[in-house]
Amino acid sequence: MGSRCGATLLLLFSLLGLFSISLSSAARLSASRQKLEVAKHLNRLNKPAVKTIQSPDGDIIDCVHVSKQPAFDHPFLKDHKIQTRPSFHPEGLFDDSKIPEKPKEKSSASPITQLWHVNGRCPEDTIPIRRTKEDDVLRASSVKRYGRKKHRSIPKPRSAQPDLINQSGHQHAIAYVEGDKYYGAKATINVWEPKIQQPNEFSLSQLWILGGSFGQDLNSIEAGWQVSPDLYGDNNTRLFTYWTSDAYQATGCYNLLCSGFIQVNSEIAMGASISPVSGYRNSQYDISILIWKDPKEGHWWMQFGNNYVLGYWPSFLFSYLADSASMIEWGGEVVNSEPEGQHTSTQMGSGHFPEEGFGKASYFRNIQVVDSSNNLKAPKDIGTFTEQSNCYDVQTGSNGDWGHYFYYGGPGKNQNCQ
Ligand SMILES: *[C@@H]1O[C@H](CO)[C@@H](O)[C@H](O)[C@H]1NC(C)=O
Ligand SMILES: *[C@@H]1O[C@H](CO)[C@@H](O)[C@H](O)[C@H]1NC(C)=O
Repeated sequence: MGSRCGATLLLLFSLLGLFSISLSSAARLSASRQKLEVAKHLNRLNKPAVKTIQSPDGDIIDCVHVSKQPAFDHPFLKDHKIQTRPSFHPEGLFDDSKIPEKPKEKSSASPITQLWHVNGRCPEDTIPIRRTKEDDVLRASSVKRYGRKKHRSIPKPRSAQPDLINQSGHQHAIAYVEGDKYYGAKATINVWEPKIQQPNEFSLSQLWILGGSFGQDLNSIEAGWQVSPDLYGDNNTRLFTYWTSDAYQATGCYNLLCSGFIQVNSEIAMGASISPVSGYRNSQYDISILIWKDPKEGHWWMQFGNNYVLGYWPSFLFSYLADSASMIEWGGEVVNSEPEGQHTSTQMGSGHFPEEGFGKASYFRNIQVVDSSNNLKAPKDIGTFTEQSNCYDVQTGSNGDWGHYFYYGGPGKNQNCQ
C-alpha cells in the first residue's frame, strides 16, 4: 500500500469524523431546541398554583386562582368578566338520584368522585388543573398537536363518503338527532375502563353538540369519559371535554389544554381519573353530563352530576354554535390503528355488545335535548349509526325510569370482526 493511498484514507476518515461530529451536534442542537420548546409550552400551560395535590394515580393537581386559568391567555378574554354561575338552568331535569332499573344490591349506590380527592381539595376561588408533564407533551406527535384531536373524528351518519370514515380509523356506535335547533343535551352514562390494544388508540364515551355542516368550519362541543394512553400516559378512565370551531384544524383542544373553556368549579378537574368504574355483572356507576346554552349570555355551560357546574365555553369561540346546535350525538368512539384487513381488540364501553343489557353492556340513559325555551325534553326521531356493527353496536329503547336510552359498545376484534 503506497503512502499516498494511506494519506487519502486518513483524510477520508478525518472527514467522516468531522461529518459525524457535526451530525451529532446537529442532533443535540435539535434535541435541545425541542426541550426548550416543550419547556416553553409547559410554562404556558401550567399556571402558578396556590396549592398542589398529589393524586394516587400519579397526577399532580394544581389549584390555580380562577383569574389565572389558561382561558385568560386568549386575547378576546383579556377583559372578560367571569360569570360565576349560569343565569338560567334548563327546566325539567330528570331526578338523577333515581337508581337504574332493577337495582342489584350495590348498584349506583356510592357517588362517583375523582381519585385525587382522597389527598385533598382545592380552596375557594381556585380551580383544580391537572398538571401537564414533560412526558405528556413528548408523547404527542409534536408540541403543536398536544391536546388536540386528529381530523375527521366526528361520526357522520348517512355519510356520502363511507371510505373516509374507515380511512381515519375512528369507529363509532352512536345515537343522534338532527333537523331542529338544539340548545343543549343531557345524558347519564355508566363508566367503564375499556382495554386499549395500542397506546396510540383510545376509547371514549361522550356527547357531541354540533353546529354547521360537516365542512371545514364544523363547530363541536364534547364531554364524557375516555381512556387515552397517549394523552394521559396510563389506562385510567378520565373525565374530559373537547371543543373546536373549525373541524379540529386550528382551534380547540381537550380539557384546559388551550384557552377557551372558563372553569368556575373548585372540585372537579378536567382530565382527572374517575372512580370507581362499573364492573361486569357487578356494581354499576354512572355520571350525568348536561351541556346547555344560557339564554341570557349565550355561553355554553357544562354540569357534571347534580351538583357540579364546571364552567362555560364563551359564545364568541364559535360561529354556528353562537346561535344553536343543529345535531346532537351520544355514544362511543374508538380508534382502530390496525392496518387494513385487521381489527383492533380495543374495547368500546364495557367491551360487550348491547344485547347483554344491564350490568354487562354500557349505556346512556335519560338522553334529552334542550329546546329553544330552555326546557329539557325527550329527543324525537332518534337515529343510530355504526360503521361495523359486528365490532361495535348500538340498540335504543325507552321506558319510564330511563326515558330514552341505548346500550352500545363491543369488543372490537372477534369471530365476526377480524
Ligand atoms: C369499513 O370497512 C369494513 C371492513 O373493511 C366494512 O365491512 C365496512 O362496511 C366499512 N364501513 C363503511 C361505513 O364503509
Ligand atoms: C395499558 O394497557 C395495556 C394493555 O391493555 C398494557 O399493555 C399497557 O402496559 C398499559 N399501560 C399502562 C401505562 O399501564
